[in-house]
Amino acid sequence: MPAQDDVMDLIFGRWRSQTLHAGTKLGVFEAVGAEAKLAGDIARELALDPALSYRLMRALGALGLLQEEAGRRFSITEAGRLMRKDHPQSLRALTLLEEGPEHYALWNHLPEMVRDGKQNAFVREYGRMAFDHAAADGDYGGRFNEAMSSYSNVQSALVIEALATRGLPAGGHLCDIAGGYGHLMSSLLSAHEACTGSVIDLPEVVSDGDKLLAGSFGVAERCNYVGGDMFQSVPAADIYFLKLILHDWDDDECVQILESAHRASDDAARIFIVEHLITDPETPHFSKFFDIHMMCWGTGRERSSDEYAELLSRAGWSHVETWYPESRLMGLVEGAKA
Ligand SMILES: C[S@@+](CC[C@H](N)C(=O)[O-])C[C@H]1O[C@@H](n2cnc3c(N)ncnc32)[C@H](O)[C@@H]1O
Repeated sequence: MPAQDDVMDLIFGRWRSQTLHAGTKLGVFEAVGAEAKLAGDIARELALDPALSYRLMRALGALGLLQEEAGRRFSITEAGRLMRKDHPQSLRALTLLEEGPEHYALWNHLPEMVRDGKQNAFVREYGRMAFDHAAADGDYGGRFNEAMSSYSNVQSALVIEALATRGLPAGGHLCDIAGGYGHLMSSLLSAHEACTGSVIDLPEVVSDGDKLLAGSFGVAERCNYVGGDMFQSVPAADIYFLKLILHDWDDDECVQILESAHRASDDAARIFIVEHLITDPETPHFSKFFDIHMMCWGTGRERSSDEYAELLSRAGWSHVETWYPESRLMGLVEGAKA
């Protein structure tokens, strides 16, 4: 019964993601190596209960993240390696945020929010909005910012790919608005050696010295970090990027951010909105689930290319074209000065 199997698979999705989260949080993927190792030795190394941690590792094996052999021995798989801190495409921080206690708790409020028409799960759970919570709770704030770099491990490459046919002006100054620790900007500057760039984000984010990524990409000399408030002002630039920013905010808030870039730039400026774009009604797409997460997380939403074009126009920009990587997981909505 394929339909029944499909629905069962949906029902038990959380069991899988929470098993993955527990293994990640407990350091299992750091401790298990390429050579098979006894579960008891791994448990001792990580100070875990041997019986329960064996069962956890067995389930991680069932998920394809570890390989179990006879005699309770485990080695890591290629998928499991993605959960390690030092993997260049690491998804560890993403797991610790999205399946961590705060974001997990938000989903409990989804039915009531949809009933009441009030998009405020973070306030219902923690009494404040997400960025206020991140500023007040260093553990959540740190995990949030690291998770954004982890998202970028996938997304920066999609942006570079989507831009490949379009190109960027040699010698141009780029600005990533609310660019976090600078993964996207560092990737852009690595791919476009004649460009320079600014990353603006909240002062507490860009003062996280050893977390900022331009140095590890070898582009620190061409990358300037600026602490500020994007609703007030952003640095002058030829090309702006907004990756996973406008989906955090409602339409009026988005217009204010787009206006900041409009004010700061000259007539030749361009802007790229990088988001998971809502597809037509017939096409299932990840954006339609990310939209529910955004409903829980803040005042934002996922939007279609046309909806972003409308926001651009409200802020004085005109829509030029929308660019996609081959997977079409995300899209880049390009705006020019109207
Ligand atoms: C969803 S994250 C995206 C980060 C980054 N663009 C990326 O894709 O990884 C949102 C970012 O907005 C920043 N932010 C929130 N409010 C801001 C403000 N008023 N001015 C500047 N940055 C802000 C946060 O610190 C965070 O880095």
